[in-house]
Amino acid sequence: MNKPARVAVTGAAGQISYSLLFRIASGQLLGKDQPVILSLLEVNVEAALRALDGVVMELADCAFPLLVGVEKHTDAQACFDAVDYAFLVGARPRKAGMERKDLLEANAQIFSVQGKALDAAASRSVKVVVVGNPANTNCMIAQRNAPSLAPECFSAMTRLDHNRAAAQLAARAGAEVKDIANIIIWGNHSSTQFPDLAHATVSGRPALDLIDSDWYEVEMIPAVQQRGAAIISARGSSSAASAASAAIDHMHDWIFGTAADRYVSMAVVSQGEYEIEKGLVYSYPCTCQDGKYQVVERLKTSDFARTKMKETEDELKQERDGVASLLP
Ligand code: NAD
Ligand code: LMR
Repeated sequence: MNKPARVAVTGAAGQISYSLLFRIASGQLLGKDQPVILSLLEVNVEAALRALDGVVMELADCAFPLLVGVEKHTDAQACFDAVDYAFLVGARPRKAGMERKDLLEANAQIFSVQGKALDAAASRSVKVVVVGNPANTNCMIAQRNAPSLAPECFSAMTRLDHNRAAAQLAARAGAEVKDIANIIIWGNHSSTQFPDLAHATVSGRPALDLIDSDWYEVEMIPAVQQRGAAIISARGSSSAASAASAAIDHMHDWIFGTAADRYVSMAVVSQGEYEIEKGLVYSYPCTCQDGKYQVVERLKTSDFARTKMKETEDELKQERDGVASLLP
């Protein structure tokens, strides 16, 4: 058996974690030969800690053979001690009628503290995915507060949007999700994101040859942009199981690699690719190999695409300017 991997999950008593933790512990993240220690973080509030106790009891009751340790923490630095992987989920979710960026005031501080804690304590090759909203800007805050970690250690999750777009395209084209490749989510995990089908294929055929442009531009793009709000309206609370599933997909592909000629959407620290401002955490098409992601560069972009890519970049700049005091 391998040495146990240390996996941190914040917001461990919350809705997303209630799905995520059990999937990690059962081997769906790291495989059937990899023991896992879960290092869980919650706020130091009685109700949250009671709920966390219950989650830990249920983890024990599953008798997962790969789960060799569970730690409960209220201190971020203790939680992140030597962690190999960190899922930063803990943050307030939005309610109906809010945009995700309305959460910045409530959530941004969390990521400043946790960035510093990762910097001090995590493995030097830690892989971090920020799920808590607004995910891109929270990720930027964490990354900027962790100067001794490489920017490539940090990412934010747009895989849920990517999966949503794949499911919608498959349904429209009468195909299966496994036949869909190379969807791109550009930019922010927000209603300005740009779900781009220009490079997508269905069983190897260009997606845009199989669907009408009206459906793509008038129905599908807004539906993906607004899917989070649609779920809040239907469920009364934000997506949880699908978010956990996307977080597993994101981290799994980052660790084990993407399939040949397939890209995934990951929000990562921009190095200026596609003329997006350096330092923003922007969702790009990525491939992963040997535990590293690479932005897919030099894809052709239409005027339509460039306008949309710029719109979502502008929103990220506004969010960044609003949290300037948290960006060393
Ligand atoms: P939730 O309210 O059910 O759970 C959040 C948990 O985080 C709570 O238990 C809370 O006590 C805890 N928490 C708050 N501050 C913390 C801190 N500083 N340290 C540790 N724990 C802390 O919410 P949820 O449904 O699990 O959603 C969590 C976040 O994920 C929200 O911000 C939500 O908007 C976001 N989200 C993102 C995506 C995405 O695609 N990126 C998808 C779904 C949800
Ligand atoms: C989602 O996309 O489902 C999450 O970001 C939750 C939300 O607030 O929409």
